[in-house]
Amino acid sequence: MVRPDQLIIFGASGDLTARKLIPALLHNFVAGALPRPIQVIGVSRSERTSEAWREGLRSSLPPALAEAFVDFAPRLHWVRADVAQRAQLQHLHEVLDRLAGPEPDTVGRLYYLALAPQLFGPVVACLDAEGMLTCAPDAQQGWRRVVVEKPFGTDLPSARALNQELLSYLREDQLFRIDHYLGKETVQNLLSFRFQNTIFEPLWTRQHVESVEISVCETVAMEGRRGAYYDGAGALRDMVQNHLLQILALIAMEPPGSLQADDVRNEKVKVFRALRQIPAEQIARDVVRAQYAAGPARDRGYLEEEGVAPGSETETYVAIRAAIDTWRWSGVPFLLRTGKALHKRFTEVVLNFRTPPIDLSGQAPTDACPLRPNTLRLRIQPHEGVVWSFLVKEPGAGMEMRMAELGFDYADLGVSQIPDAYQRLLLDALEGTSTLFLRGDEVEAAWSFIDTIRAGWEATDAPIHTYPAGSPGPEPADALFHGCEGSWSYGP
Ligand code: BG6
Repeated sequence: MVRPDQLIIFGASGDLTARKLIPALLHNFVAGALPRPIQVIGVSRSERTSEAWREGLRSSLPPALAEAFVDFAPRLHWVRADVAQRAQLQHLHEVLDRLAGPEPDTVGRLYYLALAPQLFGPVVACLDAEGMLTCAPDAQQGWRRVVVEKPFGTDLPSARALNQELLSYLREDQLFRIDHYLGKETVQNLLSFRFQNTIFEPLWTRQHVESVEISVCETVAMEGRRGAYYDGAGALRDMVQNHLLQILALIAMEPPGSLQADDVRNEKVKVFRALRQIPAEQIARDVVRAQYAAGPARDRGYLEEEGVAPGSETETYVAIRAAIDTWRWSGVPFLLRTGKALHKRFTEVVLNFRTPPIDLSGQAPTDACPLRPNTLRLRIQPHEGVVWSFLVKEPGAGMEMRMAELGFDYADLGVSQIPDAYQRLLLDALEGTSTLFLRGDEVEAAWSFIDTIRAGWEATDAPIHTYPAGSPGPEPADALFHGCEGSWSYGP
């Protein structure tokens, strides 16, 4: 008999459950992708019935999923509990066993901690004390896993302490640290693109690549009550530590021996460890931080947002000229930038290839920068795709050149909608595949790079620039490109 899996969502009354987790599960359910039948148990301190929870979820679903929800709804159950109180977990444990039916120990359980990070430790400790984490290593049945959302720590010491705390109750293979960017199809495609084709790899080195640009530009600002959380985080911790550095690792890593979790993660860790720490005296030169001011896209600046402390120095934009000290990348700048309230929403990676040593067209004046014909643009979102650019000759007399492009658009695959990151990540966690989740040492190595920047800001009182909401960002960020290296992409 096939035993069901149980997905237990702690903090189920939060926004993530209705907006991401349940739609992702439903898509998987409709596609028949779930590995086994599923029971979903929502847990939070708020009192409600399972019916009321189902009804609330149904009304928030897009119409396309409403029909599938009729069959899915009976699998949803609500349990009221304060999960940091062991006595209350006992009750949850009983409900889980009852729902599981005979031999509850053979049912796999995925505990999803959609909770404030300070609760990760206490909740896992209670689960352990209640015997809810016990399972044999590599158990095919009756496994117990824990998923934690970001942020994983706020700096290296806190991430290290959290790792130690959680790993005193769990084995590393039971702990799934999420970075939802790794669940995005187009981020996974970075691996396939590089390592399943042979033509790109020989070009993927310092000999051919002059710079790499990684942008995660957002138009959102502090919508709703985001300001209160964001003001304690800032762009560096909220976006760079995780999403941008993960993309950077996939671009810069050496080919892994396989796509097994440890092979991939070993290579990513090497990249993080090779990221050159930026000393305080170079912070103002290599890192630009800024806050948005009122502008065409918003009538108030960051400092006027709800939940933001008066005079806050939290950055809503950061751009970094990073260096990776490896044989492959030595001397190639990695230009990273992310910001809120920018002119466009787009995430992309651009590899700028070196220019020809001599300009045979004679078009560029000798004292100006040479034309930069070759870029490879990996579009992660929106308009997902890949674009190569190159120069071609204008037909006719002379040697006039013009830019041309070769491209691939995901839309051409006929896929009406690219699966959401959580669809893939939930499936992988249910299957116990952790390649797309972060390992403890990876998170710590990424924090180590981030902490040096923050320490540099504090030590030097580095300036906080401003940019108008709706603009491409602060002008000083342009200076992170040196000499003839080019400039930030304007996006699609
Ligand atoms: C989250 C950040 O991790 O990622 C948010 O906390 C950000 O600030 C979001 O807006 C961006 O994710 P996506 O998938 O919309 O690019």
